[in-house]
Amino acid sequence: MDKFVISGRRKLKGSVSISGAKNASLALMPATLLAGGIYRLSNTPDLKDVTTMSRLLESMGVGTSLTGDQLVLDSSRITSQEAPYAHVKKMRASIYVLGPLVARYGRAKVSLPGGCAWGPRPVNLHIDALQKLGAKIEVKRGYIHATAGRLIGAKIHFDVSSVGATGNTLMAAVLAKGTTTMENAAIEPEITALAEFLVKMGGRIEGIGTNKLEVEGVDDLHPADTATIPDRIEAATFLTAAAITGGSIRIDNVCPEHCASVIARLQDAGCSITSTSDSINLESPGSLRPVDVSTAIYPGFPTDVQAQWIALMTAAQGSSVVTDTIYLDRFKHVPELVRLGADIQIRNNSALITGGKPLMGTMVMSTDLRASASLILAGLVAEGTTDVLRVYHLDRGYEAIEVKLRSLGADITRVSGEEF
Ligand code: EPZ
Repeated sequence: MDKFVISGRRKLKGSVSISGAKNASLALMPATLLAGGIYRLSNTPDLKDVTTMSRLLESMGVGTSLTGDQLVLDSSRITSQEAPYAHVKKMRASIYVLGPLVARYGRAKVSLPGGCAWGPRPVNLHIDALQKLGAKIEVKRGYIHATAGRLIGAKIHFDVSSVGATGNTLMAAVLAKGTTTMENAAIEPEITALAEFLVKMGGRIEGIGTNKLEVEGVDDLHPADTATIPDRIEAATFLTAAAITGGSIRIDNVCPEHCASVIARLQDAGCSITSTSDSINLESPGSLRPVDVSTAIYPGFPTDVQAQWIALMTAAQGSSVVTDTIYLDRFKHVPELVRLGADIQIRNNSALITGGKPLMGTMVMSTDLRASASLILAGLVAEGTTDVLRVYHLDRGYEAIEVKLRSLGADITRVSGEEF
């Protein structure tokens, strides 16, 4: 298992390029199950999760190859409609194969995702929506068994705005007979990108980018090519990394609009930020102001930046409160930040941070993807050396993060092979 060894207290400077979005790739790739043929997805990030999705699709008969950031998928010969636990246990997003398989093949056997580092993450909304479209679904022995004739369009209202359930339902509804109306649908940029890709494949979808989607089912779709949108969460991670170190950076290949809520909070903290159509410049202030944040669905402040924001607020001059309204128990990074000397109390789904206490380097343990990013940020500003253990969590969602950070002047090294 790898760890990162970080020697802190270096201001980040320079420019870095943002990769394609993990959460967009993980939605686009299963869509290739909807019509046999060759697909080219450019700007695909080289991440563990993308590899996991490739392995899952390969187990169903899809050919995949990633050269640089060009991902080519060949779904002409699908041999199986099963997503085994061996794959699904590695990554919840595997559930995205359910909708396309039921819609195209009328059957699917998909493992339930199982536990997550931070509390329950059910898939009831995915199942309810597919049942509304006419699928017969039975959950037994840890597997979702779905069968259906041709799906039939229906009116679907999501009680909770869910990225995954919206994506799965969209991929099912495009091949259903008749019209599907989806209310309180998710409007995250990754879902908008998926909907636009489905339209490129011949799908008929109205209301893209709004929380009311209307899908006119078609008999057939065809392969298409597309470019993956930039990763707004990776972008936010680098902006908060620059801010916590008192540095100044430019990030390229980014969509500033997708990062608007994070940019606004960074400006409240005192950072001066300018942007162009595809880059963002950040100059951090002498001292950071404390800023309260409450996470929300897009375009609100992303839950996937909550951990990084808590790390940032440990360096702010004063107290702040960070509340997560999407995942009420997503605070596994807090005890590790406290090990570095941070003063943070958890009250229900809020973290109360008393900033300004200098962090001191020590060993800390990664528990999940974004929690590990917050430990990296803390290590960049801590005095002395910080060892961030089990960085395989990071490799799931950040492409060569240590290489990119080193290009900005950080002292961070990957150490391999030790058991921690
Ligand atoms: C997506 O997860 C992202 N993952 C997550 O990013 C992100 O945290 C999350 O959206 C919220 O923005 C991918 O896109 C692959 P949801 P998803 O369905 O689709 C509840 C990262 O770090 N819910 O929008 O699983 C759920 O419990 C990852 O990159 C149900 O109750 O999230 C949560 O409270 C982590 N029943 C809320 O809805 C359901 O059937 C939002 O979840 C589905 C969801």
